[in-house]
Amino acid sequence: MFEKLQPAPADKILALIGLFRADPRKDKVDLGVGVYKDGNGGTPVMRAVREAEQRLYKEQSTKTYLGLAGDTGFNAAMAKLVFGDSADASRIRAAQAPGGSGALRLVAELLKRSRPDATVWVSDPTWPNHIPMMRGAGLQVKEYPYFDAATGGVRFDDMLAALKQVPAGDVVLLHGCCHNPTGANLAAAQWQAVTELLLERQLLPFVDLAYQGFGEGLDADAEGLRIVAAKAPEMVVAASCSKNFAVYRDRVGAAMIVAKDGAQADIALSNMLSAARSIYSMPPDHGAAAVRIVLEDDALRADWQVELEEMRTRMLRLRVELADALRLQSNSNRFDFVAHHRGMFSRLGLTPQQVERLRVEHGIYMVDDSRINVAGLPEGKITELAKAIVSVLD
Ligand code: LMR
Repeated sequence: MFEKLQPAPADKILALIGLFRADPRKDKVDLGVGVYKDGNGGTPVMRAVREAEQRLYKEQSTKTYLGLAGDTGFNAAMAKLVFGDSADASRIRAAQAPGGSGALRLVAELLKRSRPDATVWVSDPTWPNHIPMMRGAGLQVKEYPYFDAATGGVRFDDMLAALKQVPAGDVVLLHGCCHNPTGANLAAAQWQAVTELLLERQLLPFVDLAYQGFGEGLDADAEGLRIVAAKAPEMVVAASCSKNFAVYRDRVGAAMIVAKDGAQADIALSNMLSAARSIYSMPPDHGAAAVRIVLEDDALRADWQVELEEMRTRMLRLRVELADALRLQSNSNRFDFVAHHRGMFSRLGLTPQQVERLRVEHGIYMVDDSRINVAGLPEGKITELAKAIVSVLD
């Protein structure tokens, strides 16, 4: 039965977890997988989430099924968190999904049903799993230009020029904030311009919002998405709670639809849920229930926002420290973009060979495209890290 199979290639981000764990060096540095780390290198359960879990433990009286859409209170709270209080809720529907990845797949399944011949256009580069995930649902994938490796910024004119050539009816996947893997993001005026182009070209906006609260703040990180939502008759969204609620392994996300009217939104949701039924049936409850409790309780929500803000500002400080250290060590400003990027990641612009040398010679782990997880930067040892990076440059 299985004799014809070849081993599947490892996911390059997840493979780093195993390599890092197996490395016996005490001073190794993990800048790989996108998991927030505090100053001690840990990824603690957030205070408000812990409290919500305790309430769940005390008060939950049954674990019977909730249904294909999961926790409806969670869905309503997530729609508000993402779209804001002023959005037209009558056209929005949300379904709880197993993580942001589950939400991406649910949206892809919906697209396959509604626009079977559509191509999904993704940024070059994008989160590596976007592409297999869209293809896995039977969709075509193509890339639009996005990152300028020379400046660390966005090739915005090239991006717009490419999107102008995209055939009507196709889908454009945009990172809502904190672009993964580059850290280079669109400004509000650029979101406006992209929105106008998408409407003019009749392209469907698809926003992946996996890091809300990690860039400029909870509302600021949703600004681009809200600019699109204010104008577009239809859009789709995949939101993740993995990072901003630190519930990674609990798999908490939401797939969302904005339709032309409530009736179309209901039909689209029913299709998404029937796709869920044929893949995994119902999403896991625990993490989403905890998130719902946090979002519905004023005190817990306030505390969650304080802790999230601490995480965000810590990453900003580390960005500045690394950019300063790299400027000093390299005697150049070629890495200054690290301080201007937002979110968990920046792409340093090293070759795969230089990344490999950092791992082998210095025990510094990053993705082979030189993406670093800023939250993993070692407190108090950033100068050493910058020295090591500069040492592999020539
Ligand atoms: C990442 O990009 O590192 C995270 O989103 C984790 C993952 O699943 O790849």
